[in-house]
Amino acid sequence: MRYDFDKVYDRKAYLASKWCVEQVFGREGVLPLWVADMDFRVAEPILTVLRERLEHPIFGYTMVSEGFYDSVIRRLESKYGWKVEKEWMVITPGVMPAVNAAVCAFTEPGDRVVLQSPVYPPFWSAISDNKRELAVNPLKLADNRFELDLDDFKNRFERDGAKAFILCNPHNPGGRVWTKEELTAMGETVIGAGGVVISDEIHCELILKGHSHVPFASISEESAMNSITCFSPSKTFNIPGFHTAVAIIPNEALRQKFNETRGRLMGAPSILALIAAEAAFRHGDEWLEQVLAYIESNIDYAVGYFNKNIPEVIPMRPEATYLIWLDCRNLGMEHDELRSFFLDDARVGLNDGAAFGPEGKGFMRLNAACPRVILEEALVRIEKAVKVLRKR
Ligand SMILES: Cc1ncc(COP(=O)(O)O)c(C=O)c1O
Repeated sequence: MRYDFDKVYDRKAYLASKWCVEQVFGREGVLPLWVADMDFRVAEPILTVLRERLEHPIFGYTMVSEGFYDSVIRRLESKYGWKVEKEWMVITPGVMPAVNAAVCAFTEPGDRVVLQSPVYPPFWSAISDNKRELAVNPLKLADNRFELDLDDFKNRFERDGAKAFILCNPHNPGGRVWTKEELTAMGETVIGAGGVVISDEIHCELILKGHSHVPFASISEESAMNSITCFSPSKTFNIPGFHTAVAIIPNEALRQKFNETRGRLMGAPSILALIAAEAAFRHGDEWLEQVLAYIESNIDYAVGYFNKNIPEVIPMRPEATYLIWLDCRNLGMEHDELRSFFLDDARVGLNDGAAFGPEGKGFMRLNAACPRVILEEALVRIEKAVKVLRKR
């Protein structure tokens, strides 16, 4: 079927976090292009299985079906040639719960854990809230693209003795799809130092043209045996409100440690989430193909618009995700001023770049997964505000 991603839904009436701007930003009239969910309806096969399930009026605790495991196994093999076994999988109520549990299970309080700044804000708290030490490997900005600083990365492990690395593969907020060479270099460093890679691959199916995702664990037997991969249908199929992910841990000893922590902290899987996820994995590709084409055209539109009409703001073209990292440093503002400029002058709700780490100061993140009219309106608002600024 043909999906209409131009359709605007009233999400606020259903308390979508993204649209409850008064609570989030403390202001009315702000157009929201922030948190990573899409303003698009989900794939029809997801709705069909949910409707069918709702016909049965009892929603008790659930077992995980063979069909669910099988759908994940088939998907990872067909997309990436990665052969995963059922026993390696642990269902968690989301990727961040899995990342937090992995930090607790594979490191000790006081251990150093590496992240690559700027990065998804909850990575920072997954380290510091669990009383581990932050070991930061800043990404390098080269030609408006993030690159790995391998020498610095090696120092974090070989010199500073870090014990684990939270990898964002693909990268949020920069949309980098890490290459096999980059992943191999990072893996050799971490594993050579006796550490574990916690690979968050939540955005791995939102890959844009010309790029391909490599699961970290698929690189070699060593990378598989020294890592946990967090995989989820939530970003790909726009069902993050279902809070479900799969932690894939080929190493039995690591899996046992993970399960001890998981069992203490997390409950059983959500019945509707598993059903929705399986339908998405098995029958969601027609929708996914169309949504990726729509996202890609929105990104082209936004990047072109900034370049032509708002050259003070430099968009980073993502290789994956629907997120655009905006370099706003040429607006010449202190970061607090910048945040207020977007909220109060432009009246658009973006993600604050500084929340992704000190390297994010002077940057904002825009979510382009919305109907084109919303994106157009946001860009016009930003342009108008910049025009006023130019006259000052
Ligand atoms: C890189 C990354 N990891 C994890 C999450 C959140 O995952 P979950 O809601 O499954 O905890 C997000 C959401 O934006 C994300 O961008």
